[in-house]
Amino acid sequence: MSSRIAVFGTGYLGATHAACMAELGHDVVGVDVDAAKISKLEAGEVPFYEPGLEEVLKRNLSSGRLRFTSSYKDAAEHADVHFIGVGTPQKKGEYAADLTYVDAVVEQLAPLLTKPAVIYGKSTVPVGTAQRLGELARRLAPVGDEVEVAWNPEFLREGYAVEDTLHPDRLVLGVDPKRPGRAESVAREVYAQLLDEEIPFLVTDLPTAELVKTAANAFLATKISFINAMAEVCDAAGADVTVLADAIGRDARIGRRFLNAGIGFGGGCLPKDIRAFMARAGELGADQALTFLREVDNINMRRRTQMVEHVREAVGGSLLGTRVAVLGAAFKPDSDDVRDSPALNVAGQIQLQGAAVTVYDPRAIENSRALFPTLNYATSAIEACVGADVVLVLTEWKEFREIEPDLLAKHVRERRVLDGRNCLNPVRWRTAGWDYRGVGRP
Ligand code: UDX
Repeated sequence: MSSRIAVFGTGYLGATHAACMAELGHDVVGVDVDAAKISKLEAGEVPFYEPGLEEVLKRNLSSGRLRFTSSYKDAAEHADVHFIGVGTPQKKGEYAADLTYVDAVVEQLAPLLTKPAVIYGKSTVPVGTAQRLGELARRLAPVGDEVEVAWNPEFLREGYAVEDTLHPDRLVLGVDPKRPGRAESVAREVYAQLLDEEIPFLVTDLPTAELVKTAANAFLATKISFINAMAEVCDAAGADVTVLADAIGRDARIGRRFLNAGIGFGGGCLPKDIRAFMARAGELGADQALTFLREVDNINMRRRTQMVEHVREAVGGSLLGTRVAVLGAAFKPDSDDVRDSPALNVAGQIQLQGAAVTVYDPRAIENSRALFPTLNYATSAIEACVGADVVLVLTEWKEFREIEPDLLAKHVRERRVLDGRNCLNPVRWRTAGWDYRGVGRP
């Protein structure tokens, strides 16, 4: 059965969700206040790089199941199922999440609700938000108690957004047990195709659903910082963190995924989510429980400064007047996202220490230039490396893993490579005469 759906926010989360809900056969309208984004999406263009999304978008635009609007009135008339997929960035100068955009959706939408509706929040929010938004929506909506707010956190990874939306590991739905309503049955209709595939569907109360998401991200961040802490010890002891990760990862209780040491995690989620989690725990009087996340954050940020130090040592003690090639700017491969990107952060720090830095990334140049206009940008990996005293690989794009060390050697001044993601084959590079240095490996 097809549902009439509105999705608020057309960023990584919202645009993907809207397109994928149409793909499931629903009648969907995507809503955004940003007119430029809307017109791009209407033309079948995804405003960011996400493999596979454009096909889904185009297919569903032409089938007529998907359209976009900037009108809340249009959305309220169209849909009885609403998803909130707007951003919750870190507040300036604070750890807490900025809920302005999430609040604004409910403040604008609820007064237009003249028929029963369910609003599902998907954005990552501090625990307690769903309860508060439920009260707000019921107070503002002409239908009053006939509007329900439930929480349906999203776990999608950039680069795999379509796959993660259509075939997630699990679906989580938080409902208010004191207000039994239609939220669960409507969600079962919306996700019927996924439930047929026997994807686990966990129904919880509102605070648990909100916390599932924050806890998952806190765990992932901790796992990465754990292996990065081991990399520091490996560096000091002359051990190899990649082999260590392979060996401990064989233990099914530990698992090998998310144990790649390097310059650490970045992006629009993990860094700000662990900070918002600490801030919220503090408000709840449970700050002690999360003090370890401060250390997770510290280990992660230290990766960046240590990388800069390694580069400085590699070029003989001073970066002044050196030429540094940086391969990779996106916070991870298969993405054009540079939000809190470790790669770009390292590039910026090195430039501030007096080096001439040239950056190349297969997808993220445009976004990088907007954030760091004073770095030099190249149009290919080779161009970035011309005359370089040292080459840094900071995002593990496939293209960089496959670079021919012999070929690159012809363009650089010194055969010196620092692999900030342990993604190159040290034997290959050393055989080609390069001074190779990875992270946490001899
Ligand atoms: C993350 C969560 O994985 C996802 O479930 C949630 O919905 C949003 O946040 P995403 O930000 O897309 O997704 O990126 P992810 O693939 O998790 O990578 C995050 C960062 O960790 C990247 O900078 C990546 O380079 C880094 N990372 C990841 C490591 O440094 N080592 C690893 O082993 C894995």
